[in-house]
Amino acid sequence: MPMQTISTVASMQRLAKKWRRGGALIGLVPTMGYLHEGHLSLVRGARRGVGKSGRIVVSIYVNPTQFAPNEDLSKYPRDLQHDLKLLRQEGVDAVFAPNDREMYPDRRVVPEGFSTYIVEEKLSLGMEGASRPTHFRGVTTVVAKLFNIVQPDIAVFGQKDFQQAAIIRRMTRDLNFPVRVIVSPTVREADGLAMSSRNKYLEGDLRRQARVLRRALDAARDAVKKQKTVSAAELKQKIKTLIETEPDARLDYVEYFEPETLVPLSEVRRGAQMALAVFVGKTRLIDNERI
Ligand code: PAJ
Repeated sequence: MPMQTISTVASMQRLAKKWRRGGALIGLVPTMGYLHEGHLSLVRGARRGVGKSGRIVVSIYVNPTQFAPNEDLSKYPRDLQHDLKLLRQEGVDAVFAPNDREMYPDRRVVPEGFSTYIVEEKLSLGMEGASRPTHFRGVTTVVAKLFNIVQPDIAVFGQKDFQQAAIIRRMTRDLNFPVRVIVSPTVREADGLAMSSRNKYLEGDLRRQARVLRRALDAARDAVKKQKTVSAAELKQKIKTLIETEPDARLDYVEYFEPETLVPLSEVRRGAQMALAVFVGKTRLIDNERI
């Protein structure tokens, strides 16, 4: 079966209904496109989840409601033709690639055209939510819409966006979406930089400087290995100093927290989750790992 490219909500819902009537499981991988190996690893995870007879849908949509006015919405990298080629090679069954009018009717007169949002009120307050106050409201809203449009049995998200995955898990449980959320490991470049569509912005020496995120995770892990428990304040200062050894890198935040609840820790020990956001030039990069 050739891969289908679908741009309207009605036709995606019709296809999902047909597949479900035929007894096929549906796996969804939501993305904003400009795909890399990280995204493709989620597609393979979805295939393992639904089996050979299942159907895989990848959505490609740069969701405006999760970008603040000062962020990179208009510059966000796009290459739909290349994305479609990669997804065809992965054996994806359908790509859902709607435009803004389809997802947010009358976007030019928002909020009048669209006025219902999903807001998670606990896990989304810290870290990315503190730095980007309306971001997760946009993410949960679009993911809820995608769940209703694609009607998946499973949906796969990346550990790279650890807080995002935790919030989507919580939303799915709180609102009883009949979807199994799978979180898939972070795929990295050979030098340890987590793959991201935004890495494209890292020109010249900035690409080298970006390796400092990986070094920060390693430094924190070394510290808890040596000392068993370290004060979070002390470890944060150490990481800030390390980040600032690169001339164009600036720490936005670093946090240590309990991986299930995202509750911040004042004493860091093995098994703690660490997450950080760093500006490298104008590009904001995030990473996280269990240390
Ligand atoms: P996007 O940044 O395109 O990422 C799509 C999915 O790929 C997310 O689940 C993300 O965590 C995962 N991903 C990104 N880089 C990865 C890597 N290096 N290794 C493993 N997985 C990786 O995240 C979004 O889009 C959007 O917020 C979205 C969920 C689509 C809602 O608009």
